[in-house]
Amino acid sequence: MRLLMVAPPGAGKGTQAKRLADHYDIEHISSGDLFRQEVAAGTEIGRQAKRYLEAGDLVPDEFVLNLVASRVAAAAAAGGYILDGYPRNVHQAEAARELAANYENIGFQSVIHLRVSRDELRGRMVARSKLEARTDDTAATIEHRLEVFDSQTEPLLEYYANRGLLLSVDGELTVAAVTATIIAHLDAMHASADA
Ligand code: AP5
Repeated sequence: MRLLMVAPPGAGKGTQAKRLADHYDIEHISSGDLFRQEVAAGTEIGRQAKRYLEAGDLVPDEFVLNLVASRVAAAAAAGGYILDGYPRNVHQAEAARELAANYENIGFQSVIHLRVSRDELRGRMVARSKLEARTDDTAATIEHRLEVFDSQTEPLLEYYANRGLLLSVDGELTVAAVTATIIAHLDAMHASADA
């Protein structure tokens, strides 16, 4: 199974990606986690990416492909992956598509979108800011991240819908109910594809 999650900040991409990775025994690859690890380790990429993460801006595209491409190729060969946070704009999606065209069985089979209202997104990120030390969970940066999603990432929904890959589910159910809904849809889609 090769999956991508596209949803706004706080929608539950990381939460659901971990659960789906466990369920399908595939690798969870989070571009945000990879950048945070690079920042914590003080690598060159981390030093370059830090200010973008703190501001809630996207890290320039040239840093991202290098970070995820080899991991995606290895995970695809090992049975599958769920990508969380990459591609994040149409330019990244085109680069991923061009790369995938050179290989068999590496491209996305489904793109999962979680629908969550703005008030719920804000509430989740504010609640998380009291539990975790994410530098981008401040009130001003949360608003900016939502704007960045609207202007740069949301066009991906139409991009993948036009390719027949988009699965959009209600992300305001309980965590377990969201997972169950996604699994039911994916299993039905893959069963009909195999028939
Ligand atoms: P990234 O790490 O991808 O962050 P994000 O998109 O802002 O998403 P979040 O991690 O805030 O939310 P999530 O949707 O994963 O929700 P979560 O499961 O945590 O990116 C961070 C930064 O890295 C970017 O701003 C950018 O700088 C850089 N970056 C990353 N990828 C990039 C790329 N491709 N190109 C350029 N730059 C890139 O859940 C949120 C909270 O809600 C949690 O507390 C959770 O417990 C709770 N929750 C989850 N589901 C539910 C539910 N159903 N009900 C109630 N609470 C829930």
